Amino acid sequence: MSKSRLKYICTSCGYESLRWLGKCPECDSWNSFSEELVEISKRKNSPVANQKSTIYKINEISAAEEDRVKTGIKEFDRVLGGGIMPGSIILLGGDPGIGKSTLAMQAAANISSNVLYVTGEESPKQIKLRALRLKIKSDNFFILAETNLNNILSSIKEAQPSIVVIDSIQTMHSEQFDNSPGTVTQIRECTSLLMEEAKKGHFAVILIGHVTKEGIIAGPKVLEHIVDTVLQFEGESNHSFRILRSQKNRFGSTNEIGIFEMHENGLAEVKNPSELFLSDREKNVSGSVITASVEGTRPILLEVQALVTPSNFGNPQRVTTGFDGRRLSILLAVLEKRANLRLSANNVFLNMAGGVRIFEPAVDLAVCCSIASSLLDKIIDNKSVVIGEVGLGGEIRSVGNIEKRIQEAEKLGFKRIFIPSNNLKGLKLNTEIKISGVGNLMELLQVIYK
Ligand code: TYD
Ligand code: MG
Repeated sequence: MSKSRLKYICTSCGYESLRWLGKCPECDSWNSFSEELVEISKRKNSPVANQKSTIYKINEISAAEEDRVKTGIKEFDRVLGGGIMPGSIILLGGDPGIGKSTLAMQAAANISSNVLYVTGEESPKQIKLRALRLKIKSDNFFILAETNLNNILSSIKEAQPSIVVIDSIQTMHSEQFDNSPGTVTQIRECTSLLMEEAKKGHFAVILIGHVTKEGIIAGPKVLEHIVDTVLQFEGESNHSFRILRSQKNRFGSTNEIGIFEMHENGLAEVKNPSELFLSDREKNVSGSVITASVEGTRPILLEVQALVTPSNFGNPQRVTTGFDGRRLSILLAVLEKRANLRLSANNVFLNMAGGVRIFEPAVDLAVCCSIASSLLDKIIDNKSVVIGEVGLGGEIRSVGNIEKRIQEAEKLGFKRIFIPSNNLKGLKLNTEIKISGVGNLMELLQVIYK
């Protein structure tokens, strides 16, 4: 017999408490506790080994990369590390209306084996209407409108799918628990049950999850620990493009991003993101510098924009979009100390154009140049690209993947590229673009803003 007891669980991190708390001691979020019934199962008999477990030699386990299921959407497959791994659980999170259902549906539609799309939010008719918009004609795409997990599991046994889409995990519930759908206990237990079945049945699950106001996947952080892959689908509501980012991936790199554009008949892959990010560029304006960042395996050219304005109040503002605020403070200090630029009395606004988020140090130099450009109101010519990590002494440190960055810049018609002088060593590239090595920050600022 199992007993149940009332507990209070933090909806953002899963911390459990016997009484209600206003602030979570674990993750510091306010007013995040919800009342839930938690089963307390009696401890099972002491673990006597009555079943023999098998030990495998690692060389004898067969697992080939070809086992991955390709969705045919290259941007999606690449973010996953080359396709969907059978038996894995993928959590796809994002704001409402961003296009999670659309992406999951388009990805599933190209798979040649059976796909089961479980919807707890929309009716089969609504799904059909979306399928018509997306021009899905697949013969092995099955729809199930159900929120009861036990029924879903038996339908899975019947349909034998290779991919199951759960839209969304917050609407699912298991009869084993009295809590309502969307509570921490239900989300956690439904995911664990699905996971168990997925590993046994060798099918992959795409779980769609909502995101809270703060931008984290609703339901506790524990969910992120259980699943194999956490994908975040993001974008600005007033831009048509969307970025798929992997936050955790047991089967691939987490640096990879996939870029899509939302059209009236679904998401289209953006094959050349550099062109997209540079398309709205206003040429010949101060504060704008082009740099080449490498996201995962792919170089992306993007524009760094800075706006430096005099501050009338005591505390100058530092606002960044798409860049780490603390990193900006460091770079400002370097500019102030090593390049004698007076920034402490100025507001600095920094923006990675196009809504991307870049945390790679290779963009440091471009950030410094754009700030200097805006402060001095001088323009760097629009055919140049700047790459390099800036050290505290103002020295420029070498960066990885330099060939890829240079080639991308050349491909897009840039004429000159500034790279760390240490990267010049051993550089064997037959290119037309003029490559200049830079040793320190002052040197570069003198060249481009003379
Ligand atoms: P949806 O996939 O329902 O979002 P989510 O599941 O993340 O809530 O997509 C919703 C938005 O996408 C909606 O605002 C309309 C837009 N959309 C298009 O622009 N084109 C399309 O072909 C589809 C299906 C949706
Ligand atoms: Mg949806």
